[in-house]
Amino acid sequence: MAAEQENVGNLKRKLAKLFQLSLDATVPGEPDIEPQVAACTAKFGDYQCNNAMGLWSKIKGRPGIEFRGPPAAIMKNLPQSEMIESCSVAGPGFVNVVLSKNWMAQVRLLWLQNIQKMLVDGIETWAPKLSIKRAVVDFSSPNIAKEMHVGHLRSTIIGDTLASMLEFSNVEVLRRNHVGDWGTQFGMLIEFLFEKFPNFEDVNETAIGDLQAFYKESKQRFDVDAEFKDRAQKAVVRLQSGEQMYRKAWAQICEISRREFDQVYQRLGVHLEEKGESFYNPHIPGVIEALTNQGLVEESKGARVIFIEGINIPLIVVKSDGGYNYASTDMTALWYRLNEEKAEWIIYVTDVGQQQHFDMVFKAAKRAGWFPADDRQYPKASHVGFGLVLGEDGKRFRTRSTEVVRLADLLDEAKTRSKAALIERGKAAEWTEEELEQTAEAIGYGAVKYADLKNNRLTNYTFDFDQMLNDKVKMPFPACLLLCEGNTAVYLLYAHARICSIIRKSGKDTEELKKTGKIVLDHADERVLGLHLLQFAEARQVVEEACSNLLPNVLCEYLYNLSENFTRFYSNCQVVGSAEETSRLLLCEATAVVMRKCFFLLELYRTLMA
Ligand code: ARG
Repeated sequence: MAAEQENVGNLKRKLAKLFQLSLDATVPGEPDIEPQVAACTAKFGDYQCNNAMGLWSKIKGRPGIEFRGPPAAIMKNLPQSEMIESCSVAGPGFVNVVLSKNWMAQVRLLWLQNIQKMLVDGIETWAPKLSIKRAVVDFSSPNIAKEMHVGHLRSTIIGDTLASMLEFSNVEVLRRNHVGDWGTQFGMLIEFLFEKFPNFEDVNETAIGDLQAFYKESKQRFDVDAEFKDRAQKAVVRLQSGEQMYRKAWAQICEISRREFDQVYQRLGVHLEEKGESFYNPHIPGVIEALTNQGLVEESKGARVIFIEGINIPLIVVKSDGGYNYASTDMTALWYRLNEEKAEWIIYVTDVGQQQHFDMVFKAAKRAGWFPADDRQYPKASHVGFGLVLGEDGKRFRTRSTEVVRLADLLDEAKTRSKAALIERGKAAEWTEEELEQTAEAIGYGAVKYADLKNNRLTNYTFDFDQMLNDKVKMPFPACLLLCEGNTAVYLLYAHARICSIIRKSGKDTEELKKTGKIVLDHADERVLGLHLLQFAEARQVVEEACSNLLPNVLCEYLYNLSENFTRFYSNCQVVGSAEETSRLLLCEATAVVMRKCFFLLELYRTLMA
């Protein structure tokens, strides 16, 4: 084998090439079928080809394959290669490949060098490479004076992780909080503020109390009092025309909301920069004019709209009363992000309910020539939708009094529960009150984040404290923390802590080992672990896949498997005191480094600092 850099990515590409030849022979005349090759998760092989299942309809009835179906045909047509030791068919759809031992021995040498290089030069050497410089992630984005609900929590958690993954991939990320701060509701809120607090400028959040209650109260007035309603509608106009007193009142209401949102961001350690709907308002007329000049904007039932092929309702960009709406703002924000901020990838994180809205906005932008014809090319825009958060009753997540759950309360409860568990473990006696508080926060908030991220974001998920602190064993919270089982943040953090303690107990200096020691991968479980570590760096795997497909759960799955692989390695391979001690300690260290990077990307790192 040539002494070229033989990383896992190359290996997979080589296998994919072989399977491409096989597919060409199996289903001739279908050049669009791309080989799907992935690392095996089960123990039947090293890699597997997953194409067979999708081929049934194409392949049925063709000569030579009537016997055992597509997988057998794919296997039969696979060219001979020094890479492959043996092949087998598993289930209805997989062809498993066991790689040749000789060939692997050579490849492994290069892996070892790769892991060792990462240890010395840092995990950044394993960062994926995306071909863009700047992205916008539009996430969290609650609405002023309305409640910030669990949907916004999901958006905050998912968006924050996507932003971190892009940043790790060397992309500059503009983390945008597109708060709803510019709607007709402000007329009513402002008039109500004037009425309740004649010297409103001195009013602060303690006087207003709960802004949501304030909103409800003013809405009530609006609905029953015609005179108030009239005033409120005029107030919108006065605000939008920039009348000073109205602007001031508006700013004050926004500020009170902002402080409440910030409490949640602070707890979660999330950073974002607010550019709310109001920011784009001055740019709307220009953008609509440009779209109109391009001939895209048409008159329809008094409104001005953009028609989109394949969708029977148009995108309304100017309402029939001449006002602007959510879509006008989003068209303008998109224009701004592309032209002023020069972002190449614009990502929106909201619940799936808004999918059609974004679909229409993106398609309208495409008609305007803002995006290239080929969807795979940049600049592009993506909507990252997510499912509902459900309560244990399977319905929309609410408190017992059927109110929307306040996020601050929810996070408080997570903290209270993890604190109780720590106390039960006797930590109150061991730690200072501050340490106890910090750890309780880190574990509690970390559990909430991880429980969200580990699911495919599109599925609805059930919010269940007991479960997010322990998955496999259903039991009351404090006990499960002791067991640390299941795919939970607590389990993963525990696994990491254990690795660190193995290294610590060895009494060896890993910095020294990195320079002088050598890794070997002789034991099967060492190889599985080593290969898994390398998959973190493998092109189109893990981070890059999680990034490109905007799926944080891919990273969670990787992390969980890593800790499982480590556990298997550790139970079968003695580390401290063995002949392979140096190599194995380095493998421990490499695992810990990769785990920490994952924690960082999943924003669970605060948990580690505690
Ligand atoms: N404020 C909206 C909501 O609460 C989300 C905004 C998402 N971002 C956007 N550019 N439209 O549903």
